[in-house]
Amino acid sequence: MVSIGQTCLDSKCREKILEDAAVSDSKSDFHLRFMGEDVLTQKAEEVGEVTPEIEKLADDMLSLMYEEEGCGLAAPQIGAPLRLVVIDCDYDPSSQTKKNPYVLINPEIVELSDETAKDSEGCLSFPGLSVEIERPVGVVVEAEDLEGNVLRYEVEGSLLARCLQHEIDHLNGVTMLDHLGPIARMKAISTVREKMQGDAAAGAANGAEGETATHSAERTEKSTEEK
Ligand code: NI
Repeated sequence: MVSIGQTCLDSKCREKILEDAAVSDSKSDFHLRFMGEDVLTQKAEEVGEVTPEIEKLADDMLSLMYEEEGCGLAAPQIGAPLRLVVIDCDYDPSSQTKKNPYVLINPEIVELSDETAKDSEGCLSFPGLSVEIERPVGVVVEAEDLEGNVLRYEVEGSLLARCLQHEIDHLNGVTMLDHLGPIARMKAISTVREKMQGDAAAGAANGAEGETATHSAERTEKSTEEK
């Protein structure tokens, strides 16, 4: 178990996590990570004690998720390889509906339905990509919240059911690409590369950081599924 802010002497990996996730006043420590970055394909570590640093991480993730108009975000997506997910499948930025954020710590899928369905998904870490992915329609997830309560989510046939699976995939280093066949996967990689290169070029032309353009472009997660 890893607690950000606590000293872990037994593993370089854990030291790296602490280093990467070290609390800082600078929000630049946490920024969206994109296709090609190792943190997106690695299994994340369990969160130990909920420290103020973990609370701040969750808060930063929610802020970023709303800013990017996604409906979910996993900690590895901002460079913190920890089993922490934030989700809000109810909030609609276009009509500014009431926010309904969930923070899931160490979420585990304990049950999946036999019935599956295909639907399109997007991901803030894969700009410009929307792909059909087949997943179980129903899911039961257990997770802790920031107060240490164990919560059980039983969800069926909704955006939330898909979003939960997508986000928990991220904690296991699984991305949308891993759900695609080889040809679709190559095409998807190419689509994201082109989008990121286009955004970077547009950002450079505007004299701004390309990242800004990249970030503002994505809303796929919400419209389809998540993040
Ligand atoms: Ni995603």
